[in-house]
Amino acid sequence: MSSDKKFKLGMVGLGVMGRSLVLNLADHGFAVAGYDKDQAKGADLLKEGAGKPVGSAADVTEFVAMLEKPRAIMLLVAPAKVVDIVIDDLLPHLDKDDLIIDAGNSYFKDTDARFDKCAARGVHFFGMGVSGGESGARHGPSMMPGGDKPSYERVRPMLEAVAAKVNGEPCVAWVGNKSAGHYVKMVHNGIEYGLMQLIAETYDVLHRGLAMSNDDLAATFDAWNKAELNSFLIEITAHIFKKDDDKGPGRLLDKIKDAARQKGTGKWTSQDALDQTVPIPTIDLAVFGRNVSGMTAEREALTRALGGPVPVYAADRAAFVTQAKQALFLATIVSYAQGLDLLRHASKAYGYGLHLGDVARIWRGGCIIRSTLLEDIRAAYATNPELVNLLADPRIVEKVRAALPGLRAVVRTAVDMGIPVPALMGSLAYIDSLRCGQLPTNLIQAQRDFFGAHTYERTDREGTFHTQWE
Ligand code: 6PG
Repeated sequence: MSSDKKFKLGMVGLGVMGRSLVLNLADHGFAVAGYDKDQAKGADLLKEGAGKPVGSAADVTEFVAMLEKPRAIMLLVAPAKVVDIVIDDLLPHLDKDDLIIDAGNSYFKDTDARFDKCAARGVHFFGMGVSGGESGARHGPSMMPGGDKPSYERVRPMLEAVAAKVNGEPCVAWVGNKSAGHYVKMVHNGIEYGLMQLIAETYDVLHRGLAMSNDDLAATFDAWNKAELNSFLIEITAHIFKKDDDKGPGRLLDKIKDAARQKGTGKWTSQDALDQTVPIPTIDLAVFGRNVSGMTAEREALTRALGGPVPVYAADRAAFVTQAKQALFLATIVSYAQGLDLLRHASKAYGYGLHLGDVARIWRGGCIIRSTLLEDIRAAYATNPELVNLLADPRIVEKVRAALPGLRAVVRTAVDMGIPVPALMGSLAYIDSLRCGQLPTNLIQAQRDFFGAHTYERTDREGTFHTQWE
């Protein structure tokens, strides 16, 4: 591309995600200039993007000069703390009304601080969640921008062109004010943690409990993926069961260490949910599942000290597989319900102005938690934007009723076999707690009043009461 021609967008960070998104934009006819401190990455982009409208800059000054005004610059840099360094590098070169889009997995409170820092210089800023990994970025991600709405309108044609499409609708929408985009992406990841843990627990009860082979598991997950459980995560899980080990005999999955890592977005979701007193046990227990998986020394010591029941399932196998499907489906609904409930509260607490129907709509394609179920979830919030909880939607109620006996049976059987299913249990406890008219927390109120004179309310009259208990 000739150097006098200006570029529509600048991309800082030409790692896997940045480069893939640049190439996706270029394929849709948008000229993009890339910049990375690592010059080799700029050269890689020019090589891979030969014949496409892409450019690469040697330094920030050249980069900024290559862009159409008012400028739009996207950041896809890791680790997250580098975002501040890049913003500080860019700001002295930018003019009023230029726009910076942070498309990484930044912590939402950092995004608010960056929004204010840029605003003080007349520069617009928004945080945008991008989901779908490398292939999503290259061929159609789900994108969750939030922040300055008029600036979003400027880049909207570009984002809509490159986003994943479902029924012709792009999986991108302005989600809300200030850090709303990064908050929504954080909760997306919290739900992602929940779904992954639930799938892993279901694998465990089928694999260790029923001694199902990888081939049987692959066939089961393939079949599940053709019905109401249809989703990206179920689909890739079926593939994983089939993958041979290229370094020896057997399947690769059986050689992979069971210590799961995390970059922290699931933990942030739990932390903020605690701050807002919103219960999200499925997601919390998914974070627990990753943490406990890494406690190798403790696990070895306790395995030696305690042993445990050897899982053997002696009853009707086909019936149990059906129950496992129901359990996974219902707990999946619960994972989405908890994430969306957290979004509902956060929207009020942080003034985001979220529309949960839009959030569900842009999650239907491109992202890691995409699933057929999200169409029902979108419809639920489109019918009633003020829905008190996803589980209260009439369509969902029907599904919950149908699958509840399966979830209960799987949890009961897993307990008998000594197979840990924390997220399935947490999902069941969430439903049982919310649908239980009378919780035992009257006793907690009595105890609090007993030892601390914290007072209590009565069921039969107005007011606040204190009793001399002894
Ligand atoms: C996505 C993913 C992605 C995330 C990875 C790893 O939506 O594309 O959520 O953003 O970084 O899945 O996350 P963990 O390392 O925390 O598992």
